[in-house]
This record gives sequence, structure tokens and C-alpha cells, in this order.
Amino acid sequence: MNLVDSPAWRALAAHAEAIRPQHLRELFAADVDRFSHFSRAQDGLLLDFSKQRITAETLALLHALAEAADLKGWQQKMLAGEPINHTENRAVRHMALRADKQEPPEVRAVLERMQQFCEEVHSGKWRGFAGEHITDIVNIGIGGSDLGPRMAVRALAAQQQPDLKVHFIANVDGADIAPLLAQLNPRTTLFIIASKTFTTLETLTNARTARTWLLASAGRESAVAQHFVAISTNLELTEQFGIPAANVFEFWDWVGGRFSLWSAIGLALALAIGWRQFKQLLAGARAMDKHFIEASPADNLPLTLALLTLWNTDFLGASTAAVLPYSQSLSLLPAYLQQLEMESNGKQVDRDGDPVGTATCPVLWGEAGTNGQHSFYQLFHQGGRIIPCDFLALREADFPLPGHHISLLANCLAQSAALAFGQTADEVRAAKVPEALVPYKIFPGNQPSSTLVLPALNPYTLGQLLALYEHKVFCLGVLWNLNSFDQWGVELGKQLASRLTPLLAGEGDDASFDASTRGLIAALTNS
Ligand code: F6P
Repeated sequence: MNLVDSPAWRALAAHAEAIRPQHLRELFAADVDRFSHFSRAQDGLLLDFSKQRITAETLALLHALAEAADLKGWQQKMLAGEPINHTENRAVRHMALRADKQEPPEVRAVLERMQQFCEEVHSGKWRGFAGEHITDIVNIGIGGSDLGPRMAVRALAAQQQPDLKVHFIANVDGADIAPLLAQLNPRTTLFIIASKTFTTLETLTNARTARTWLLASAGRESAVAQHFVAISTNLELTEQFGIPAANVFEFWDWVGGRFSLWSAIGLALALAIGWRQFKQLLAGARAMDKHFIEASPADNLPLTLALLTLWNTDFLGASTAAVLPYSQSLSLLPAYLQQLEMESNGKQVDRDGDPVGTATCPVLWGEAGTNGQHSFYQLFHQGGRIIPCDFLALREADFPLPGHHISLLANCLAQSAALAFGQTADEVRAAKVPEALVPYKIFPGNQPSSTLVLPALNPYTLGQLLALYEHKVFCLGVLWNLNSFDQWGVELGKQLASRLTPLLAGEGDDASFDASTRGLIAALTNS
């Protein structure tokens, strides 16, 4: 039976008719304990979802849907290593990467090598071709081989190791790598080539440029071993690239790229914050894994986030969702979550190859607060669209300065309150606003939001936060009955780009391309 025809779905659809006209003002007025009814605390985190447009009945119906979707059963399949990524016949075992004493031996072996490598770089035992210490690390990777470590290095800037700078290059545009190389010293720079497949065009192009740059100074091929390490599942291709096996940190096809921060893909982060701190990141994620598996549905934070997204998307009609960290250090979180959520659940075909029958992943976007308030929040407040928001706030500042943090938090709370409750015409008039301006000063409100409070931003809480969203994505995949772990939608563009490359180099013609593409080739090549 298609999802939307199921009794649980139909019950929700009927219930939504009753909820849609209700305003958050009314929902709050009807329940003085709404905050305690619709918030959950877990291991230092607090999730307040009282500003979502739900009632107790909504939650009960959503949980019934999760039960009908056999969420527990799918969790067990994932934990048992069944190939739940069925279109690629792969297991989904990123939790095994952070399982501590329970991790598979191959995971432990790579973690031990990562630790040793970090210690050698930090202590200065690892030297460049001219015998100097490493001062700069450059992670070359894209997508899941970039966004996680890049975001986490920025997030944990307050924990950074002294005397080691970590840089990230992703774009095949030479404007990414060229200015960085211009400021680096080849004698003291170490490159991490991060690519699960080791076939990604952007990464290999940048890696070749980096190697040429290094060899221009070193003058000998053997210098590659002192300045390049690789992270990949494809040991044949890393060898072909010239990176010795001793410098390759392996991971496995059961780790999805967007779930790979916990694998060797986290090496740049481990170098940036030190091994002890990296283990704390794993510990935080592990604690969230345990919560996800053991907590009751009503207390389960990842499931709650997933159910709210499904409710807002499929029953209240939201087509986008915003993630708004009130933390400059988390400014790359929206970009990270864009890949995690949209590459996982941006799909319209279910596990049986049939149409899902309903909208799936909303378009996710966001920006660190307060910056977004001075650009796009206008549309949240008065643009007439429903845009559910996830606000994130830290109880303690990671860079405490007098006056800053309180102001940041005040803005975070002000925005979620303004979005929820708005401002009525009567309230505007009571403030003695000239009548002609009244329509412009009305805020409809009723924008749903959740606020997640972290006690502080550190490796442990970052681990909790990221695992929370990973499991949210898993739950949504189960609810929509789709495979969250493949990404066939990225393939067509890659194939076309490889056909277009020779044409843009002036080699040949391809009449099978459409008139627009051919016209653009001509414009870009002056032919
Ligand atoms: O093109 C999409 C994608 O395959 C992502 O899923 C992945 O994270 C990224 O490219 C990079 O892939 P790789 O790590 O194999 O270079």
C-alpha cells in the first residue's frame, strides 16, 4: 500500500484540517504548560518544540505513523549490518565507527594509525622533504569528504591546536586552490587527499595541482610520501596516484560520504583539535546513538525532529526549512546539513521503485544568527510562506566577550517568539502607529520553530548534535519509505560534464546536445 493511502497517513491528513487554522497564540493560550509538554532534555541538550504547530494528538498520530513504518525494525536492520542501502547492496554502519570498545577490528586499526599520525605531526616527528616541521594541513576533498571536517574545524576553533593551520580546498575552480598555494610553504605543507571513491574529478584535479606545486620545489618524486596522505576506500587508485600504502587511511563502502566524519575523513579535524578531543567527538555521537536506540519514541530526539519535519512538509505544506545556529562557530552547519539531509532524502522514488506519493526532503538552508536577521528574515516574518526553523543556541559562549553572548541569545529568543506569535493590528494600533502604516507593521506569526539548546560548543556536544541530525535523516527515510543512503541524482550531471569537457577544450562537436548547451559552448569558447 502506498504511504499516503495508509490509515496512519489518512488519520494525520484529517487531523491536519483541524490544526491548520489554529494559531500558535491559541495553542499557547490553551495550555499553560505547553513548554514542559513539548520539550525534552537529554544528556545536557534541550529540545523545545512547543513553538511547532502541533497538539498532543498530532504527536500521537505521528508516532503511530512511525510505528506503522516499522522504525524499530529498520533500526535493527541497520544495526545488524543488513544491506539497507539496497540499490548499492551496502550496509549502513557509520555508528560502528564510534562504537569505542565495540568497534570492528579494522576500524580500531585505522583509528590507532590516525592517532599515531596526529601525534607525529604535532610532535614534529613527521618532517617535510627539507627536514622541517609541518605547519599547514590542506584537506582536498568535496561533499562528504570536505563538508564535515571543514564545518567541525570551524565549529571547534576554540579548541584548536597551536602552530598548525588547517585549510580546505573543494572547488575545481582554480580560484580555490591558487590563492592558498600562493601563501603556503611547500616545505612545511601536508596534503590530505580525501575521497571515498578516489575518482572525483574536482578532488583529483586539485590533488594533481598540489602535487605539481610540491614537486616544483622538492624536485624529487620521493617528496610525495612526506607531503601527501590519502583517505579512501579505493586503495588501487590511491596507489596509482603515487601515494604509498603506508600513507593511506582506509574506510569502507558501508560508510556513506555524508556520514563519514567519524571515519578517517575526520583526520583533518583530529589534526586541528588533537586526538583526545577527536575521541570526545566520537563519544558525543556514541551517546546520541545510544539514546536513539534506547529511548522511548516520545523521548527520542532524532525521531521527534523527523516527525516535525514530516508534519511541516507533508501536512502544513512547507517546502523549505531553515537551520539557524546562533553561533558563528556553527556557521557552516547549514551547508553540512544540506548535504546530509538533501542528498539523503531528496528523492521521489520509494524502496520499491514506486513514487513516494508525497513531498519529501524540504529545501534546507540557513545562516548563522544574527546575520540572517539583517537579510532574509523579513521573508520569514511577512513573506506569507511557511518556513519552519531550527534555532540553535549555546548556553555558554565559546569565545566569551563582555556583552556579546547575552545579546546573541536575546536575538535568538526574540526571533522565535516574533515568528510564533507575530503582532496583530490591534497591537500595532495600541502602539500609536499612524493608521496608514498599520498594514505594514502586522506580523502574521504562526511560523513553526524548534530551539535546540546546547550547554556549550565542544567536541562532545558537536558529536551529539551531528549524530542527532544523522538519525533524524534515517527516521525520515524510513517514514517516507525511501533509501536515504544512495545518491543516483548526482550521476547524470557528472556524465554530461565528462562529455562536455573535450568540447569546451575545442575538441570535436556533439550534435546530440541541445541548442542552448551548444550556444553556450560557443559563447564560452569564442568559437
Ligand atoms: O557527487 C556526490 C558525491 O558522491 C557525494 O556523495 C560525496 O560525498 C562526494 O561526491 C565526494 O565523493 P568522494 O568522497 O568519493 O570524492
